[in-house]
Amino acid sequence: MARPGGLPCREPRRGPTLPPPMIYLLHAHPHPQRSRANRALLAAVEDLPSVQVRSLYDAYPDFAIDVERERAELAAAHTVVWQHPLYWYSVPGMLKHWFDEVLGLGWAYGAGGTALHGKRALWVVTTGADVTAYAPEGPHAHPFPTFEPPIRQTARFCGMEWLEPIVVHWAHRISEADLAARARAYRERLTTLLGEPAAKPSEADARGGAP
Ligand SMILES: Cc1cc2nc3c(=O)[nH]c(=O)nc-3n(C[C@H](O)[C@H](O)[C@H](O)COP(=O)(O)O)c2cc1C
Repeated sequence: MARPGGLPCREPRRGPTLPPPMIYLLHAHPHPQRSRANRALLAAVEDLPSVQVRSLYDAYPDFAIDVERERAELAAAHTVVWQHPLYWYSVPGMLKHWFDEVLGLGWAYGAGGTALHGKRALWVVTTGADVTAYAPEGPHAHPFPTFEPPIRQTARFCGMEWLEPIVVHWAHRISEADLAARARAYRERLTTLLGEPAAKPSEADARGGAP
């Protein structure tokens, strides 16, 4: 199914003999049709039979997120992928809004909030800057992993297992060959994940309370 002005939002090939989708991939790019890096990454994985892709800006142009639909997709998945360009050292606004709306008290955390426990979280992020710019003497002043904790802790607080992120730096300048290699590696990573059962959350990951 094609959405006007954006990437097609592929529905999985569901049928009586096929298993339900196991990876739910949230793609948060406000201009998917203008993307280079995220477009290449997404193209490498979106046809995997057990990957359900949601292009958030296409699905919710008015920011009115269908929370029940999102939660149903999450419940069916054992791995959640958050894929996006880095915007001001963080996620694009739509993905932050998705966190705020979907990861609710009593569902994702707090009393009874166990829906995501044991599921895996994979952060796939592209940056405009080269990795060398993420250094004390560079324009971004801090090593790139400095910017990871808010995303990682969001997952951890919901009892999810944090996987080693995929970071593609220099998104506008990386060579076509290197970008293609990163895209192939992304596909291999998801293919491997599809073959691995999710782990149980640790005690610390599964605690309640408020963020
Ligand atoms: C609003 C905005 C904020 C950005 N913030 C950052 C940033 O904090 N660090 C960085 O390295 N690149 C930043 N960029 C560059 C994007 O990360 C880069 O354009 C993107 O990763 C390219 O991916 P694409 O080809 O899929 O669009 C920013 C770009 C925009 C438009």
